[in-house]
Amino acid sequence: MARGLFSLMVLALALTVVLAADHSPLQDFCVADMSGQVRVNGFACKNPSSVQANDFYFGGMHMRGNTSNAFGSSVTPAFVFQIPGLNTLGISLARLDFAPWGVIPPHTHPRATEILTVLEGQLEVGFVTSNPENRHISKVLKKGDVFVFPVNLIHYQRNIGNTYAAAMVALSSQNPGVITASAVFGANPDISTDILAKAFQVSDDVITDMQLKF
Ligand SMILES: *[C@@H]1O[C@H](CO)[C@@H](O)[C@H](O)[C@H]1NC(C)=O
Repeated sequence: MARGLFSLMVLALALTVVLAADHSPLQDFCVADMSGQVRVNGFACKNPSSVQANDFYFGGMHMRGNTSNAFGSSVTPAFVFQIPGLNTLGISLARLDFAPWGVIPPHTHPRATEILTVLEGQLEVGFVTSNPENRHISKVLKKGDVFVFPVNLIHYQRNIGNTYAAAMVALSSQNPGVITASAVFGANPDISTDILAKAFQVSDDVITDMQLKF
């Protein structure tokens, strides 16, 4: 009896660990039926016999993203929304493009670890740990270098050259999600200015400025 209980506890712990990533599929594939009405963790599956090669395909990764924006960067995703065949498989890809000195601002992915390889140029990258608290781990990468951003941690990338830079990243979720400063300063409806002023120890005017930007 006691052993049974112990086994259950071990099983429960093991399940907790497994559930930290996307679920393992119970079938060869579950190509997303984007028009399905069922709300599950991901999308309902298309009938396997009507699945086509194009359900597993995305043809856009040779295209340089448009970096004419305030950050000087662009992200081209190949997530489940672009490739329905990724549904339930726990993996995805994105192309990053950078204008000279362009930045992908600090952000986190709530559901994915990210592994990056530099295709062109030089990037300064980094993330900040939670344990030990707020240790900033950063590195300068050149073409061909690979770097990992552990799941959930705040991270960023910056082009540190006067030339164009590009990278590919793989992510351990079909739908990694992203949380940026917009979650705080661009929440809809707004988080009260006085809450944020107290939280960041600045005046209401500074917060209002930030809220206008996001
Ligand atoms: C890139 O984005 C900018 C700003 O949104 C836009 O004005 C410009 O037309 C875009 N360029 C291309 C080639 O799409």
